Amino acid sequence: MYQIYPRSFADSNGDAMGDLPGVVGRLDYLADLGVDVVWLSPVYRSPMDDNGYDISDYEDVDPLFGRLADLDALIARLHQRGMKLVMDMVLNHTSVEHPWFRESRNPASPKRDWYYWRPARHRTLAGTPGAEPTNWASFFGGRAWAYDPTSGEYYLHLYTPGQPDLNWENPDVRQALFAMMRRWVERGVDGFRFDCINLISKTLPLADGPAGPDGLCHDAGVVADGPRFQEFVREMNQSVGLSERDLLAVGEMVLVDVPKARVYTNPDNRELGLAITFEHLELDHDPNGPKWSLKPYRLVDLKRVLAAWQNGLAGVGWNCLYLENHDQPRSVSRFGDDSPQFRALSAKTLATTLHMLQGTPFIYQGEEIGMTNAGFTSLEQYKDIESQNYAREALAAGTSESDVLAALAAKSRDNARTPMSWDASPFAGFSPVTPWLEVNANHTEINVAAALADQDSVYYHYRQLIALRHELPVVTTGKFTLLLPDDDRIFAYLRSTDEVQLLVVANWSSMPAEWPAGLPDVSTATLLLNTHSEATGGLAAWESRVYRLGANDRPDL
Ligand code: NOJ
Repeated sequence: MYQIYPRSFADSNGDAMGDLPGVVGRLDYLADLGVDVVWLSPVYRSPMDDNGYDISDYEDVDPLFGRLADLDALIARLHQRGMKLVMDMVLNHTSVEHPWFRESRNPASPKRDWYYWRPARHRTLAGTPGAEPTNWASFFGGRAWAYDPTSGEYYLHLYTPGQPDLNWENPDVRQALFAMMRRWVERGVDGFRFDCINLISKTLPLADGPAGPDGLCHDAGVVADGPRFQEFVREMNQSVGLSERDLLAVGEMVLVDVPKARVYTNPDNRELGLAITFEHLELDHDPNGPKWSLKPYRLVDLKRVLAAWQNGLAGVGWNCLYLENHDQPRSVSRFGDDSPQFRALSAKTLATTLHMLQGTPFIYQGEEIGMTNAGFTSLEQYKDIESQNYAREALAAGTSESDVLAALAAKSRDNARTPMSWDASPFAGFSPVTPWLEVNANHTEINVAAALADQDSVYYHYRQLIALRHELPVVTTGKFTLLLPDDDRIFAYLRSTDEVQLLVVANWSSMPAEWPAGLPDVSTATLLLNTHSEATGGLAAWESRVYRLGANDRPDL
């Protein structure tokens, strides 16, 4: 699965913003990499408060990205090349500009109940501080309720005030959403990536949750996995024909744990196909604080969490394997070593480790060439609403500007949103004009053209990994066994079927390592893939290898 964030992928018409014809123009690049499925972040009509995750018309393309005909062309061209298209589908909320919400603002409208409207808290004056119906914080800062002076009531928005939550309790809402999705299926899309899908059912009546130091409830558990979640998703699956038509159903799920994901992605339950989970990306901040409260992660924790998901879903559900997307910093800067000496090697080793696991690997645009964090040094460079809100609130609370900048440099979503670095030209080959978000200054060295010209690049390593997955069924089906769980530098595991066993061994550090004791014997093993041209007795810094163990009489398994 290759994720395209269309705003930052390729600008074909010189308006500083990526677009659909830009994507169509790059399909050979994706096909050569070996991509099977493209996940397209939202291209629907939107006021772009949250870069398209605030939809004002589910059935049309925003003029920034092109026209519906361009989307039809994309679908057709992908299909011609044997690739599929997964559309992002944001069903928890719309934009405030959606006609449903505009109507809903009128208390007498039949659409009033399509969203969560509530009066002020008992014995408070509507519109005054603390009068909000519950103490919930929004995921993007501030409170989750916006006051509407015209009706004297509040509406719920778990994200920005521009993203009001839809009321899935109302069957008309569900029917309207399902009908809309059926029309996309008719149009030829091959599946959906369901945005924060486990927020669609809320526990009624909406009530206060445990309050943090600021008096607000930041516990996503209060709003996630509500009592009717499975019922709603099953109804959606049935109504849209997700299982019946074998459509891809990727569920992004906030705060989901292994037991829940096991149920949600079990094909017998006809709910979702794959789970986008977060536990492995929650290890580099204070466990009780927000993502901005930086803390170094420990490899043993990452291994423990990934192993728990591997073992937990084995034989039942299905993992999405990812380290990057448009909401996360660049993985080589976060988990690897993005210094010139080790950037490419560490990007390759992260990829080896991830892609040989069980599940569907997701590559986020630019990850396959080892793009790094943005390297922004001033607040003005950040455009993301979450980052801007954080900076404003943190500065107001007395955090120093340098600490705010350090947190943003490590965690801002804009790290992954800088335009795709296609070549070394002034705007990275993304656009002929100054793009909407600054290009990464290192595009002069790290770019697609340079990667394609260098047989030893991160790009060719990804290509090999994808080819291996396509060739070796054991990568899809093999049982996972974590080795050396307590080693804080080596990530090693086995993938085994009755016929064949793979050993993956990776040095996740910038120092060479001895060959670890406790690994299976590799003296008769076949080395299938290596980040380094010469395999020595130990492991070089950021070296990773994939071996097939034992006699090599069935290379096809
Ligand atoms: C998850 C999306 O990936 C993110 O970009 C968005 O801001 C939120 N959901 C809200 O839709």
